[in-house]
Formats: sequence, C-alpha cells, structure tokens
Amino acid sequence: MTNTAFGIDIGGSGIKGARVDLDTGEFIGDRLKIATPSPATPDAVAETVAEILRQAEWDGDVGITLPSVVKDQVALSAANIDKSWIGTNVDELFHNHLGGREISVLNDADAAGLAEAAFGDPRARQGAVIFLTFGTGIGSAFLINGELFPNTELGHLEVDGKEAEHRASSAVKEREELSYKKWAKRVSKVLLEYERLFSPQVFLVGGGISREYERWVPLLTNDVTVIPAQLRNRAGIVGAAMAVTQRVAP
Ligand code: BGC
Repeated sequence: MTNTAFGIDIGGSGIKGARVDLDTGEFIGDRLKIATPSPATPDAVAETVAEILRQAEWDGDVGITLPSVVKDQVALSAANIDKSWIGTNVDELFHNHLGGREISVLNDADAAGLAEAAFGDPRARQGAVIFLTFGTGIGSAFLINGELFPNTELGHLEVDGKEAEHRASSAVKEREELSYKKWAKRVSKVLLEYERLFSPQVFLVGGGISREYERWVPLLTNDVTVIPAQLRNRAGIVGAAMAVTQRVAP
C-alpha cells in the first residue's frame, strides 16, 4: 500500500489540498482549491477544509498549515490572517469540523521547509539551513539535517528598526513597485542580519517569487549561499501531510 496522507495549505486567498504520496512527495490525483472565506474566521476556514475533504472523499489523516505560530496546537499569532485565530485551540477546532481522525496543524513555512528538506535540493537536508518564504509576509523554518525547530518567525525580526517582512516581503516589492535590483538590496540586508545572528550553511528561498530566482538571487550581496526551493506551491501541502504522518504537532 502506498504511504499517503492528505495535506491542506491555508493561505490568505486560497485553501488548497491534495493527497500526497509520502515516498515521492508527489500528489496523488488533483489538487483542490477553494477561495478562503471572508472573514476568514476559524470556523469558516475549518468548514472550508471539511468541504475540500468531502470533495476529495478522504476520511484519513490530515495535516494542515496555518500562517501562524502554532504551539501545543494553539494558534498564537495572526500577522496576515483574521485576528480571531489568536488563542484558538486548533486541535479542537478541526476535530469539531473533521471528526475523529489524526490531525496535525503547523506553521505554513515550517511545513514547506520540512517538505523541501525531504524532497527538494539535497543541500536543504545537510546541516543548519534557514528556509524562507517570500509572499505576503516572510515565513521561516529552521532545519538541522532536515529536522525542524518550529515557529521561528524571522519575518518579524527587526532589521534597521523595521520588521523584515515590512521591508522585504514580495508583497512590499509589489506595493512599492520596487525593481528587482532595489528589492534585492533590501533582501540582502535582511539576510545579512540573519547570518550575523544564526550563521546558517545555506539559505533556501521559496514563495511565488522564487520561481523568478534568476532575476534576483544573483543580485544578492550577503555572504551565505542562497538556493531556490524546488517544490514550488506543492511544498505546504506535502509538508502538512508529512507532519501528520510523522506526528509533528508543534
Ligand atoms: C507569519 C508567519 C508565516 C509567514 C508566511 C508571517 O507574517 O507571522 O507565521 O509563516 O507570515 O505566511
């Protein structure tokens, strides 16, 4: 029998899910997507997750990502999601909507980092690696030989008096209409601060903008090697499925 679980990736605009083959990191069947409800309250989002599972006819284990700190299965932050998530016991919430199955909820960047380490560039599973996603915010995952130290939230580290994600997320690039050159300068500054504090062997960069990495990674002036993530928009779903199988439930 194939080693499979279902992964769900909760984002600001869409909630996406697929069945994942955990031996290969590939999807089995189609990826399903439903627009994130508005307002994206915990109950409305959990009901959308239930709808995806009904459509997929899946009643097995489910891993779920959230763009939030998740500690002891309680959401503790909500930088880019509805504030009502703060303090929500996500284990209870999702069991109420999805019934009695195995469920793990973890931070979106942590999930993507786990997946990249398992199925992406081999350098992502060697030594001390910092994985970063550039999107609405900046998400981070600390990996040591492919194992996760969860909830690192480097996007909120202040660099020159301003949170990193307010300076250098890809949403900021769009909003301020920055050229790649200008944006790369800001990203370099952020990476230099991260390397001063954590000395990783490699930075791994993901998020939609990593598809165009050849337009900005060569412009970076920090010291540590930066490599692009490989799983693209599969990473969150695959990492979520891995988390429930490995019982990673921060
Ligand atoms: C949140 C993180 C999340 C990241 C990417 C940040 O604003 O605080 O928890 O991983 O955005 O979605």
